[in-house]
Amino acid sequence: MTIQVITVPDLGGADAVDVIEVCVAPGDVVEVEQSLVVLETDKASMEIPSTHAGTIVSVKVNEGDSISEGSALVELEIEAAEQAAPAADIPEPVVEAPSAAAPAASEPAAAASAEQTVTVPDVGTDEDVDVIEICVAVGDTVSEGDSLIVLETDKASIEIPAPAGGKVLSLSVNEGDKIASGAAIAVLLVEGSAPAPESSAPVAQAEAPAAPQPKAAAPAAPAAIATPSNESTAESDDGAYAGPAVRKLARQMGVDLSKVKGGGPRGRLTKDDIRAYVTKAVDLATSGKVTGGSGIPAIPAVDFAKFGDVELVKMTKIQKITANNMSRNWLNVPHVTQFDDADITELETFRKGMKAEAEKRGVKLTPLPFLLKACAAALRYEPAFNVSMHSDGEHIVKKDYVNIGIAVATPAGLMVPVIRDVDKKGLWELAEESNAMAKKARDGKLMPMDMQGGCFSISSLGAMGGTGFTPIVNAPEVAILGVSKADIKPKWDGQEFQPRNMLPLCLSYDHRAINGADAGNFMTFLVSAIGDIRRLLL
Ligand code: COA
Repeated sequence: MTIQVITVPDLGGADAVDVIEVCVAPGDVVEVEQSLVVLETDKASMEIPSTHAGTIVSVKVNEGDSISEGSALVELEIEAAEQAAPAADIPEPVVEAPSAAAPAASEPAAAASAEQTVTVPDVGTDEDVDVIEICVAVGDTVSEGDSLIVLETDKASIEIPAPAGGKVLSLSVNEGDKIASGAAIAVLLVEGSAPAPESSAPVAQAEAPAAPQPKAAAPAAPAAIATPSNESTAESDDGAYAGPAVRKLARQMGVDLSKVKGGGPRGRLTKDDIRAYVTKAVDLATSGKVTGGSGIPAIPAVDFAKFGDVELVKMTKIQKITANNMSRNWLNVPHVTQFDDADITELETFRKGMKAEAEKRGVKLTPLPFLLKACAAALRYEPAFNVSMHSDGEHIVKKDYVNIGIAVATPAGLMVPVIRDVDKKGLWELAEESNAMAKKARDGKLMPMDMQGGCFSISSLGAMGGTGFTPIVNAPEVAILGVSKADIKPKWDGQEFQPRNMLPLCLSYDHRAINGADAGNFMTFLVSAIGDIRRLLL
């Protein structure tokens, strides 16, 4: 018994190659040529086979590692007989970049520019393969290594790169054609240097050993050929039809391939599809648009001027931030809105009785400070409302302070200054502070800190009218109280209708954090506290 360390073989010059799959674990019994790991460059994925049969003692790499030639992959315990197997029998991986197709020594030196016919190299099968994509057009200038066409066998798609930089003079294939190794693809006008050999030239190398099989490519040979990069495009677990290079880009950009629509032939995903998806997502996140992305159909642009006079008004910064926040909150928070009416007949009698004193103090006593006080008590009574969802998606943050934001309409847009420790303040203090905050907001003097740290918000449209609305939760808060215009309504007292001053309340909440029963309790408490403000003393 001997321990053999199996290392990364010659990768044809590629270094820092990603490990995308580890196929074995300690204790596994492996055969010669059984895949140990799958590596991926930006052009190809390759399986590294075991050079011996034996039992895996330890695995030296993890998925996501970046490794180079010579890096240890596994320790293998091998039988004595196995040790005799010459390592040279084990084929070396060859993954050559397209540029590796150097001209054969026997080829004549080139003129300054020369025409070169590019042909299909040995793709490892004698059968015709499908041309699934033409990546260039006549007249295009290509660089060495740029993909000219993409072929597809039943197991893999293969990009055929330009063997040299130049201009595409003609193309001899069309999408949908079936072609075999040796068929002409295009004629290039190669400028400035000796033309590289036609891509069919390196076929002689097919006799070279070809161990690391391109993943999902049936024949072993193509990896040894200098030109094609082999992409596994067979559908994998995520159902996406994409090659390794596209998968790598998607991983780097954090894109879930199953969410991207393939724009290539037969729905094959291309790098452009990934980039377009990311661009759209970023645009959505930064613009505040609720259109496009996330599968939401975009609202088409309309030329309104066709229908009459229009004026284009630039949105203020606050309007843009508000738009963004509203979209974000509307799309992220599953809202429920509950409605009720609070009887504020007694409250209004009391408030009006305090008007003279309010004037003396220089404050305006509206229903708002009463609502602040009642909401603070309700948040203490029903602490499920005084929480935030933690951004890790695993926790709820419970708060032991009661800060309440008030929505203030200002000429620049909607602002929500926060009144701190509302539960510890009296009515006069709350009236003064809400008056001052509203003024500060309208004067454009709020500091960022004035608008942070809220636990709950109140949006009062009572001065404007309306019988109810559905306010949008100001996340990361989990609830908001909308207040509409109080009005005298008939209220049945058991014997007859009484004219009562009823205040419509609309409570929107985040149903991820708050259940309907909590909301029912909160609203019932609130309505009774507003209905009899002596309860706030309890
Ligand atoms: N029903 C009937 N009357 C009401 C009322 C209600 N729900 N709420 C306030 N009023 C009355 C007030 O008592 C006052 O009348 P009065 O002077 O006779 O006492 C009058 O309406 C004006 O009140 P206002 O100056 O607006 O003070 P407020 O304390 O009620 O509100 C703000 C202060 C800052 C909330 C308010 O000015 C504001 O900006 N509201 C808009 C909020 C908003 O845009 N929300 C939308 C979010 S999407």
